[in-house]
Amino acid sequence: MDMTAIPQIIIDFDSTLIQVEALDELAALVFRRHPKRRQLVAQIAAITKQGMEGKLPFERSLQSRLDLLKPARADILKLSAILKQKVTSSFWRNREFLRANRDRIYIVSSGFEEYIGPVVEHLGLKPQNVRANRFRFSARQLYQGVEKKNPLTKTGGKAVAVKGLKLKGEVVVIGDGVTDLEIREAGLATKFFALTENVRRESVLQSADKVIKSFDEFLYEYRLPMRFSYPKSKITALLLEGVHPAAVSALEAEGYGVIAASDALGEQELAEAIEEVSLLGIRSKTKITDKVLKRAKRLMAVGAFCIGTEQIDLAAASARGVCVFNAPFSNTRSVVELALGEIIMLMRRTFEASVKLHQGVWHKSAAGSYEVRGKRLGIVGYGNIGSQLSILAENLGMEVYFYDVVDKLALGNARKCATLDELLKSCDIVTLHVDGRASNRNLIAAKQLDLMRAGAILLNLSRGTIVDLSALAQALKAGKIAGASIDVFPREPKSNKERFESDLLGMPNVILTPHIGGSTLEAQENIGAYVSRKLVEYVNTGGTFFSVNFPQIQLPALEKAHRLLHLHRNVPGILAKINGILAAHRINILGQHLKTNEQVGYVITDVNKSYNKQVIEELSSIPHTIKFRVLY
Ligand code: NAI
Repeated sequence: MDMTAIPQIIIDFDSTLIQVEALDELAALVFRRHPKRRQLVAQIAAITKQGMEGKLPFERSLQSRLDLLKPARADILKLSAILKQKVTSSFWRNREFLRANRDRIYIVSSGFEEYIGPVVEHLGLKPQNVRANRFRFSARQLYQGVEKKNPLTKTGGKAVAVKGLKLKGEVVVIGDGVTDLEIREAGLATKFFALTENVRRESVLQSADKVIKSFDEFLYEYRLPMRFSYPKSKITALLLEGVHPAAVSALEAEGYGVIAASDALGEQELAEAIEEVSLLGIRSKTKITDKVLKRAKRLMAVGAFCIGTEQIDLAAASARGVCVFNAPFSNTRSVVELALGEIIMLMRRTFEASVKLHQGVWHKSAAGSYEVRGKRLGIVGYGNIGSQLSILAENLGMEVYFYDVVDKLALGNARKCATLDELLKSCDIVTLHVDGRASNRNLIAAKQLDLMRAGAILLNLSRGTIVDLSALAQALKAGKIAGASIDVFPREPKSNKERFESDLLGMPNVILTPHIGGSTLEAQENIGAYVSRKLVEYVNTGGTFFSVNFPQIQLPALEKAHRLLHLHRNVPGILAKINGILAAHRINILGQHLKTNEQVGYVITDVNKSYNKQVIEELSSIPHTIKFRVLY
């Protein structure tokens, strides 16, 4: 790293290096037991604001606040402990940079050294590089005033203090208020960066050389090493279809800009909205086509906050280097619980009795009503849902049989059936939990219903195409099947406004639910948290574990290394080319992972040396490269 490229950096303290105004925090502390606490705290905050906006001369703003506060030394000690917890996120994440460059970083503030010093040290910066006011305390450590000679007590004091530093070369100021701007206006700094991470003061923004949402953006501007290769505040996540607030807050906590909307977007609308988007969150209704992806120049990943991914052109996403994640397990438990409840309801003909009673008909009878204990439950599809249902059903005393096209480990005492026919012939209740592959269309049709035991019960909470519903209606009418629960349908209404039609309407002992097997608040929250975690992990580490379309790699956290992420079309010889380039530049490889799928190859290389632009250019121009990304 060429050290001359790093300017001298002057950083403001209140609302810049820390998230808050220190004197406002001090007010909350000093007046914590005061009967007029609220009023006094608000008064201090109002004076701070007037000063920062340049509406009140600084000298007056400081003096009137201190006259009200009169802090003792003990209050100041407590205050610095509080402020250490309130360091602005982007400075805290880049504390390695701050520590490494502590000699060229100055904190210039009209606050007070007594509480700024400990916070600055906590960040690895030099307390000697702080220019601020000082308190005067009595022998009993009570407030006696401020050191009057200090220029920082006065209006325009920051410029005087900076002048005193006698800095040579490029000097830049990062701050949020008018007093920071004054340093550049006095000709003592080349540039003023207005930081909006904590506050936005419009009057200040207008005169800034650049408005930055985080310290990362400053580092990015100067091509300085930062914690992440791309400023997090420049990452925009667009979340559609009312994705759960858990996802919004998880992505916001990472420092991303989040735009959340409750509706789906059509292809054209999405193509127009997607240009600046780095992360896209959808549910089942938004279609991600190649036309959309073509416009998505910045898109790194798509999070499907649901189970299915048919709404996404996965091949096109891979070809354009966009990683896709979904939430395959987050609502498993919800489906299992509903299936269990329905099995009991159907075996007891509960809904039928309830509907009659709603009509005023008292029909007390045990006919056709059974316990589930000791009954044979046949589970078709022993995946996430099927296998969990197997365990809970056994706990209710049911005998579990299952059939899966793949050889699956039987859980508990469950018995494996060699064929679907065998399962259908032997079970009292058949429940379907297969996936939606094309060959599963009409897996249960007239022939299969025929094979089932007389009086058996059928449940489908998997996919609408799996059961031939008119054949089922026939079998129910004929009394061959005693009851059914159907949650998914070949044609489902697109919205709650559209009417639902089916051959099964009005049939006794048939439970119909509008595809709500997985719809619980817990599941929605789990999905929101899970998918957003996957997106963040991919941005921060390059990890693709459980991605739907990328080769899956689970990566260790990056420690003191640079990580090069290279995605390419899966053709032979790319790894050798990558390593050839690194060897030619004498870059040592600390760790390397390669994984491929049919379409793409993903190589992750951790290197211990600063690389230069040339290396990046050479790696990016290896033929068949789809995307190349660097993490620090
Ligand atoms: P999964 O992929 O873990 O399990 C599916 C299992 O079915 C696999 O083990 C697979 O080998 C097996 N399979 C596929 N075709 C088969 C066949 N013809 N015969 C026997 N076994 C077959 O899926 P998971 O998470 O257990 O979900 C199961 C189904 O439930 C999926 O279709 C999913 O879309 C649906 N689902 C429905 C929800 C709802 O709201 N109703 C919510 C969540 C999932």
